[in-house]
Amino acid sequence: MSATTAFADFADVQGLLRFGYKHHVESAFALLRVRNRAAARAWLASAPVGSAETGAPPPVVLQVAFGAEGLRELGVPDAVRSAFAPEFLAGLGTDANRARRLGDLGVNDPARWQWGGPGPEQVPHVLVMVYALPGRLEPCCRELESHWSIAFELMRWLSTTDMGGVEPFGFADGLSQPQIDWAREIPPEDHDRLAYGNLSCLGEFLLGYPNEYGRYTARPLLEPAGAAAHLPRAEDAPDRADLGRNGSYLVLRTLKQDVPGFWRYVDAQSGADATQRRQLAEAMVGRRVDGQPLLPPTDEPIAGVGTDPASRAKNGFTFDGDPAGVHCPVGAHIRRANPRNADLPAGTSGLVSRAIRMLGFDADVLHADAVASVRFHRMLRRGREYGVRMSVSEALSGRAPQVETGLHFICLCADLARQFEFVQGAWIAGSKFAALPHESDPLLGNRLAASDEPATARFTMPRAGCPNRVLDGLPPFIEVTGGAYFFLPGVRALRWLATV
Ligand code: HEM
Repeated sequence: MSATTAFADFADVQGLLRFGYKHHVESAFALLRVRNRAAARAWLASAPVGSAETGAPPPVVLQVAFGAEGLRELGVPDAVRSAFAPEFLAGLGTDANRARRLGDLGVNDPARWQWGGPGPEQVPHVLVMVYALPGRLEPCCRELESHWSIAFELMRWLSTTDMGGVEPFGFADGLSQPQIDWAREIPPEDHDRLAYGNLSCLGEFLLGYPNEYGRYTARPLLEPAGAAAHLPRAEDAPDRADLGRNGSYLVLRTLKQDVPGFWRYVDAQSGADATQRRQLAEAMVGRRVDGQPLLPPTDEPIAGVGTDPASRAKNGFTFDGDPAGVHCPVGAHIRRANPRNADLPAGTSGLVSRAIRMLGFDADVLHADAVASVRFHRMLRRGREYGVRMSVSEALSGRAPQVETGLHFICLCADLARQFEFVQGAWIAGSKFAALPHESDPLLGNRLAASDEPATARFTMPRAGCPNRVLDGLPPFIEVTGGAYFFLPGVRALRWLATV
C-alpha cells in the first residue's frame, strides 16, 4: 500500500475506532502493570487484536492501548516517547493544573480516585479491552488472566453492564457521533466551512493523516530500519517510519452517577409531577429520554448525517434556529458538548451577510461567536455503562439498589488538548461557556466556585415571552473515580512495541 493512499488502512486500525462493537454487549477492561518485560512483549507480539476490516467479527475481540509509563516499561526509548503528545506523557490524573482545568476538584480530585491518581503505582501501563458476544466474556477473561500471570500484574478489571442503549439516568445514549472521512474526501485546505457538518477529517481521530487544519499531528517518526521497517511510512515524511499512523489517543474516565440523587432533585423542582419531571430532565440533557432531539431537522441536509429519514430525525438538526435556547437550553449537556456551529456564525449565504458576520458588525453574531467552531473539537465516544439499571420510580422509591453505577466514559481523538481537554474543560466544566453566568454542565458540573466567583450550581432555561426559568443549587450528580490517557496504536505499531 502506498504512503499516500486515499483510504485508511483498515487492517492496521484497531476496530474500536470504526465499529464500537455494539453487538458485543459484554465487555470488561483490564488495567495492567508490566511485571516482566519479556513476557509482556511476548504476549503483545501475538495478542489477537481486532482490526477495522469489515467481515464478521469473532465472538470475542481484544483491543490494546498503552499509558505513557507503560511504553517506558516496555523499553520504548525516551527519545521516541517524547514525540508523543505532552498531555499523554503527563497523564490525566497526575497534574494539579490539569485537574483544575478539567473540573477534577473537590470529590473529583485525582488524589481520591480508585485508579489513575497521582501515585505512580496507581497508573495502568496497559489497557486491554475485551468485547464479547453474550455468554463469552467470563471464560475469556479467566483465560487471559492465566496467560498474563507472569507478564502483568492485574490492577483491576473495570466491569460493564449492558443497559440496552441507555445510560444510567435512563436516557438513550450513543446517538450522535462524528462521521469519519475514511475515504478522505474533505479537501486538505478547507478553512472556510460556513455551515455545520458532521463529517470530520481522518486526522482528527487517527494519527498520521491530515486533520481539520490540513496538518499532521506530532507523533514519533523513526528510522525505517530493523523492526521499524515493518511500520507504515509517514505520509508527510516518506523516508520515516510512522509509529503513530493508524493509532489514536484514548481517554478513559470512570464517572460514578448518583441516579437517585438526580431524579430526586429533578422531582423536587417539578412538584413531583411526572411530565414536568421528565421535561426538566430532558432540558438538562438536551434530548428526550428516548433520544429524540428537542429541535426538528434543518431544511438543508447536513454533510455527514446522511439523507435517510432515520439519521435525519436523530442528528439532522443544529441550534441555529434556536439562538436563545428556548427549545434546547444553551447550557444543556449536548449543546455544551457539541454546539453544532461552524467557523462563522450562521446566516444567509450572500456576500454582504458573510462580510457583516466576518467583520463582527452584528451584535447577535458576536454573541454566537463566543463559542469556538465545533469541527476542531469533536470526539468519538465509545463509553460503556457499569452497575445497575434502575427505573425512575425505583430511583425515587428510597429503595434503589446500593450498587455503584455509572459510565466508563471513553473517547478517541488525535489531539487530547484540542479535543477531549477543550470540550471537558472549556465547554463542560467551564463557567464561561456561551457567556452563561455561574453555570457548568447540568449533568457533569462539580458545582464548585471558580476563584472569586459564586458556585456554578445554576441552570438557565430560556422561555419564549416570559422570564427565564433558573434553577439554583444543583447538587453534583457525577463523581469522577478514576481515569487515564492511553495510546491505542495501529496494529503494526502494536507489534513493533512488542519487539522494540
Ligand atoms: C456520566 C456522564 C455522562 C452522561 C450521563 C452523558 C449523557 C449523554 C447523553 C444522554 C447524550 C445524548 C445521546 C447522544 O447524543 O449520544 C450525550 C451526548 C454527548 N455527550 Fe455525554 N454524557 C456523559 C459524559 C460526557 C462527557 C465526560 C463528555 C465529554 C467530555 C460527553 C460528551 C458528549 C458528546 C460530545 C455528546 C454528543 C453531543 C452531540 O453531538 O449532539 N459526555 N451524553
